Amino acid sequence: MGEVIASYRIDADDIKVAARAIAMEQSTGTWTKVSTATQEIHEKYGAKVVEVDEEAKVAKIAFPVEDFSLEIGGIPNILSIIAGNLFGLREVRAVKLLDVEFPREIVTFFQGPNFGIEGVRKLVGTSQTKRPHVGTIIKPKIGLPPERFAEVAYEAAMGGLDFIKDDETLANQDFCPLEDRVSRTMEALDRAKEETGKTCLYAVNVTSEDIVETAQLAVDNGANCLMIDVLTCGFPGLRALNRNFKLPIHVHRTMHGAITRMKNHGIAMLVFAKLVRLAGGDQLHVGCAMGKMESENFQANYNALRSEWYGLKPVFPVCSGGVHPGYVEGNVRAGGTDIVIQAGGGVHGHPLGTRAGAKAMMQAVEAVMKGIPLEEYAKEHEELRLALEKWGTQQITRYYSEEM
Ligand code: 3PG
Ligand code: MG
Repeated sequence: MGEVIASYRIDADDIKVAARAIAMEQSTGTWTKVSTATQEIHEKYGAKVVEVDEEAKVAKIAFPVEDFSLEIGGIPNILSIIAGNLFGLREVRAVKLLDVEFPREIVTFFQGPNFGIEGVRKLVGTSQTKRPHVGTIIKPKIGLPPERFAEVAYEAAMGGLDFIKDDETLANQDFCPLEDRVSRTMEALDRAKEETGKTCLYAVNVTSEDIVETAQLAVDNGANCLMIDVLTCGFPGLRALNRNFKLPIHVHRTMHGAITRMKNHGIAMLVFAKLVRLAGGDQLHVGCAMGKMESENFQANYNALRSEWYGLKPVFPVCSGGVHPGYVEGNVRAGGTDIVIQAGGGVHGHPLGTRAGAKAMMQAVEAVMKGIPLEEYAKEHEELRLALEKWGTQQITRYYSEEM
């Protein structure tokens, strides 16, 4: 039987003592010896400190597979074990869960994405070109009524985008009820398809108390993609979508900064990336080289989503937040072409509006795929030229960050 190996960076007076305390607390121990915890129980179910790097302050702890309740407990149980009480233990000043390695039996227990990168590419029609997908978040984040929302979606699709999505705070507010929004938007996207011949996915944010019921409403109104805010809604929500609906799932990570951002405390995005792949997300926001969000080691996240993992389908990494056409080249250089590049302000803030903004993003991707510098390509592409004039271009300044 395999083990789950979790790596923690620990800030403590004595890292070995702290690592042992974590291993005990998260498996068979407590703060004092108890007669009910027999030697046999400790041996069979106790987590073990298997490696301590005093210099890096990193300890690896191995948890026996038997400690996990996959069928019923699922991902919440995994988190309670590898990322539970330990964060508050007295023995540690701070601790960051950096990574987790799962054995084959756990990875294959979860079936992973239904579509994965290739499945989404097939829906959109990019299996041949293998170019990055380009999407937009309809802006403003909140406030548009359904008919206006659908018009903006139509403009984005007419500009050639592959993908549009709700913003993470849009749900079923009175100003934009979900059913009306979805039916109008899908009708608008069908109209656009008649003109362009191209499918545009619309990820409907179904983050809610009863996600299956909400997703069913979206599906009944024609949705062709679903979206979840996985950290606020919870991993069971993602698994429920994955199990109950045969639509691609776009996963937003809002709130992650509260957990991932501190270098010395919390949980690295890499861990969430692996859990999202297990739980069956098809696309996940994981940061990127250039944009508005602070991005910890995004390349490790990309690898976790795209590399071979006991046969699970790869997940499309989503590069989003403060992106505009001038950042496309840098983000593709750093992340490769199997990525989804999204721009909200970078599309709708274009001087000529949404359709031109969408075109400018597509033109930037075309230029990168053809190996033509953006400024050069912009000479013959008006929309791109205006976007670069407004926001500029910027070359990539870093390929990865050393720290997680
Ligand atoms: C997102 O959800 O990724 C953001 O809304 C991106 O918006 P922006 O491109 O305007 O920063
Ligand atoms: Mg957003």
